[in-house]
Amino acid sequence: MVYQHTPVMLREAIEYLNPKFGDIIVDCTLGGGGYTLEIAKRVGEKGKVIAIDADEMAVTNAKGKIKNAKLGNIILAHENFKELQKIVNQAGLEKVNGIVFDLGLSSAQLQDQNRGFSFKLDAPLNMSFGSEKLEVKSKKTEDIINKYKQEELEKIIKDYGEERYAGRIAAAIVKNRPLKTTKELAEAIANAVPVAYSSRWSYGEAGRRGRINPATRTFQALRIATNDELNALQTALSQAIKVLAAGGRLAVVSYHSLEDRIVKHFFKQEARGCVCPPEVLRCVCGHKPELKILTKKIVAASAEEIKTNPRARSAKLRAAEKI
Ligand SMILES: C[S@@+](CC[C@H](N)C(=O)[O-])C[C@H]1O[C@@H](n2cnc3c(N)ncnc32)[C@H](O)[C@@H]1O
Repeated sequence: MVYQHTPVMLREAIEYLNPKFGDIIVDCTLGGGGYTLEIAKRVGEKGKVIAIDADEMAVTNAKGKIKNAKLGNIILAHENFKELQKIVNQAGLEKVNGIVFDLGLSSAQLQDQNRGFSFKLDAPLNMSFGSEKLEVKSKKTEDIINKYKQEELEKIIKDYGEERYAGRIAAAIVKNRPLKTTKELAEAIANAVPVAYSSRWSYGEAGRRGRINPATRTFQALRIATNDELNALQTALSQAIKVLAAGGRLAVVSYHSLEDRIVKHFFKQEARGCVCPPEVLRCVCGHKPELKILTKKIVAASAEEIKTNPRARSAKLRAAEKI
């Protein structure tokens, strides 16, 4: 099946990543291959791109695209990016010149009839990026929905979905268990929230105003919990700094305020010297700055891109350079 795919903030991400001829770059989120192919063209036959994705479908689809583009410098890794350092070492490398993340979900995953990422399609409740084959398995969405205590569900929906009706939604999920499909879950959510809440306006497809489905935030929260996305990001960032060569660039595109907060704090922390608590008079940590922040503020997508690609609306880019 051919999916419509437009990479978000490709121009800006490449600009900050600044891949040069002969460079070795890791694309931690292969997805539809937009970033990977562009980087591969820029680093040329003397360079290399290691392209990682936890989703087997992304890796399989990329093989055809790489063949069509006649590129021989891409190494595909069907892995979770929290194994970043191991993946780089397995490719026979110690250091790389750039690392990029374009987090979240690909269009192919969202449109896959067999996965439960979209409330618009009726599918089993499986929001996992990974597969059974991976060493780092994700939790099962169905287990979270049907086995977790109401308080745990409420916390997930509130924290990861920033959903104001998390309490009502968690109670409705528990009341309607077992829930087996996205449609059943979306209905339980719609019945739990006030009618007016289902009629909020937002900018949707191609910049047109449309209604936000009341299930949007809960689906996002369940996806984040299923894939342990925030911990994976934190782990991968810590490893990224170890495998980046001096002068190497790190660029992250995120779509969720919690992800962006992790990136922002990580960059700040690594750009600082001493990280001792303020009451410590003489430094005991010996921490040295490892990063120079290149984006003092977040970089957002251009108005033109947002018009044609609604996913770009929430995208935030941050970039830094290894000292
Ligand atoms: C937004 S898409 C990337 C799109 C890509 N930049 C492009 O140009 O097509 C995000 C991809 O990251 C993958 N992903 C998310 N979290 C991951 C993780 N922890 N490990 C590996 N892949 C992950 C998803 O499976 C998805 O395919």
